[in-house]
Amino acid sequence: MRRGGNRQPVHHRIARVKTSHHPAPLLISRSLATALLRLYDYPDPRQPGRLIRGYDRPHALRTSRMCAAVATRLGHPPARVATFQVACLLHDLGRSGLDRRLFGKIWSWARRQGIPTRPREWWAVHPETSKGRETEAFLALYAVELRKAGIPVDDWSREQVEMRLGSARRLARRLREAKPRLAELGVRWAPWMSLVMLYYYYPERLKGAPGWVRQLAEVLVACEQLEAYNNRQRGRDYYARRRETLAEAFAYLEKLRVEGILSAMVVKALHDLAAEGAFDRILAEARGGALSPRELRFLRGRGWGAGA
Ligand SMILES: [Fe+2]
Repeated sequence: MRRGGNRQPVHHRIARVKTSHHPAPLLISRSLATALLRLYDYPDPRQPGRLIRGYDRPHALRTSRMCAAVATRLGHPPARVATFQVACLLHDLGRSGLDRRLFGKIWSWARRQGIPTRPREWWAVHPETSKGRETEAFLALYAVELRKAGIPVDDWSREQVEMRLGSARRLARRLREAKPRLAELGVRWAPWMSLVMLYYYYPERLKGAPGWVRQLAEVLVACEQLEAYNNRQRGRDYYARRRETLAEAFAYLEKLRVEGILSAMVVKALHDLAAEGAFDRILAEARGGALSPRELRFLRGRGWGAGA
């Protein structure tokens, strides 16, 4: 595997924090993590000089901490886990510039209409759409109806559509734009880092990738879904969800295992860590408040063999 050269600051910073005993640690320095999360800030095209603050930062940070715990539990070497954590921190970079109101309007409208809102769901209904052209296909079909529903269809709306339905293309663009800054920060980008970021929406891109890359990709999917299912703010803004439950989160992971997106090994490691309490703090933070005694009992019972 290619990793950031040893001369690079990323490695100094990793070495310094390697001794962390946090069950879900940050293996890179806090200052590097903060600098990476700043890449989620996006210049507002409608208001020159204004930055749209990265909405997904806390989700990305919490996800990356859980990812480090799971990857370490699975036996990946520390330097690889630290590099993986960089990819995890940036996994939603394609969503920078998210306009909460407009994004929410478009996607709750689509949901109400029963229109697929994720790339995989879109292709299941529209196999004729070529990969990378989902945004265009969506707008070709629904621009008229969107306007009728009072939702403007302009370049800004197009970006909001692409953030969800055309996420691979937008992520690739944002990563390209971030490359100079990443180089300044001493992060050398390896192709496998992009692959693990794309796995959830484009699993076919990992065909032929080494087993360890595929496993890290699964770890990212599992952890980001666990976080997203417990993230209260995201639930309100993205999914029109009224409440979060751990049972639903773990049921979704089980669904992904049955579908072959997640392997039993990755799910087991996640369950074991959850049972040991490694994620208690992170999940409470995602909820914006302490977990109830009932939910804590639920987590304690996650050990493999206890049933999902
Ligand atoms: Fe995510």
